[in-house]
Amino acid sequence: MAELVQRYLDEILAEHRDSTEGRLADYIPELATVDPSGFAVSLQLTDGFVYESGDTATEFTIQSISKPFTYALALERAGFDAVDARIGVEPTGEAFNEISVDHRTKAPKNAMINAGAIAAASLMPGSTPQARFECILDFYSACAGRTLEVDEDVYRSEKATGSRNRAIAYMLQSFGMLDGDPDEALDVYTRQCAIRVTSTDLARMASTLARGGRNPQSGQRVLSGAVVQRTLAVMMTCGMYDATGNWVSSVGMPAKSGVGGGLLTVLPGQLGIGVYSPRLDDTGNSVRGAKVCRSLSARLGLHFLSVSRESRSIIRATRDVAAGVRVYELHGDLLFTGAEQALRTVEEDSADIEVVILEVSGVDDSNDVARSMLAGMRESLRRAGKEGCLVDPDRTVLTAGSASDAVVYSTVEEALAAVLDRRGR
Ligand code: DON
Repeated sequence: MAELVQRYLDEILAEHRDSTEGRLADYIPELATVDPSGFAVSLQLTDGFVYESGDTATEFTIQSISKPFTYALALERAGFDAVDARIGVEPTGEAFNEISVDHRTKAPKNAMINAGAIAAASLMPGSTPQARFECILDFYSACAGRTLEVDEDVYRSEKATGSRNRAIAYMLQSFGMLDGDPDEALDVYTRQCAIRVTSTDLARMASTLARGGRNPQSGQRVLSGAVVQRTLAVMMTCGMYDATGNWVSSVGMPAKSGVGGGLLTVLPGQLGIGVYSPRLDDTGNSVRGAKVCRSLSARLGLHFLSVSRESRSIIRATRDVAAGVRVYELHGDLLFTGAEQALRTVEEDSADIEVVILEVSGVDDSNDVARSMLAGMRESLRRAGKEGCLVDPDRTVLTAGSASDAVVYSTVEEALAAVLDRRGR
């Protein structure tokens, strides 16, 4: 039944596959040499389960998606006060490489623009640029759950052409916002931007943030909850640069894009998404990446203002009420991640069960995607010669007019009697 979610991802990719809008970044010459058709999406739930579609093994450079992670690491290692003295938390509405600081404090306005990111890289612990970079690489690797590496060609290409960032680094030094050698800070930043990832690495890094700083796969805590909260807040307000307002209203998930074509979004408490498509719009964001995120948000109901409560554990209890008849008691909000969890649990149990009774009287809220996923579950069970029904006394999940062929009862006893009767038992 996990194939239902897989199908959503495949369909969304197919819907946008033919779009050729946008162009490769070429101000870093090496980025203009990549295959523009690469296209991938990966989604990891906070229990560690991953869905993938498209070219999910293709590696690309992380670029600006590194910024929230180095910012988080700076907060974790240097502390909030030290970081806040050097980097603000205000959106700029400017381009990512704007040569600007807050005119009052002389600090970069936030950590998602290049000025703030170079300042964050300078705050890494370590007495040499190599040591500071190793600290960053180890941390990103712990978030992704595998050892990441640098693309030396992209690193050299940006280093050879990055005079704008050099101007920013020296400007920061002149305002007293950078300790040490500006070229060293810049070198650490340029290297971090050249770290290679796949869309699945991004989904894993995103879901580490969604889990409040714990890598869902390894179980390792890599950040404190307070640091994650701050990082996501800055991503939400500044992550998409001058396109942020539009993004927050239409997609509604903290996000970060990179000129390598990656896009990472986080739905706190629920999931992380990584998308790859290297053609960019004028603001430096992946065109198809943004389209995929818009479609995912709309189709799966992922806007953070409509999914405010945590639903990691939608299944409160399970019990067998007759041979092969299992009741799943659901509670909380039955939205995309809750329905996905129910589907996957039923699938895992399927060898032992013939009949699934979903008892949803403890569900507070539901939406269309969850309803259609439950319909899909019933259909999959039916195809396997099994059956599924709902106990929904208040019609919270199955509102009037929805899925008219659904089998709904008011109590588990009523459902069980009908099921046993139907199966001639
Ligand atoms: O500093 C730069 O210009 C690049 N290394 C990163 C810029 C970037 O990814 C902006 N995001 N969309």
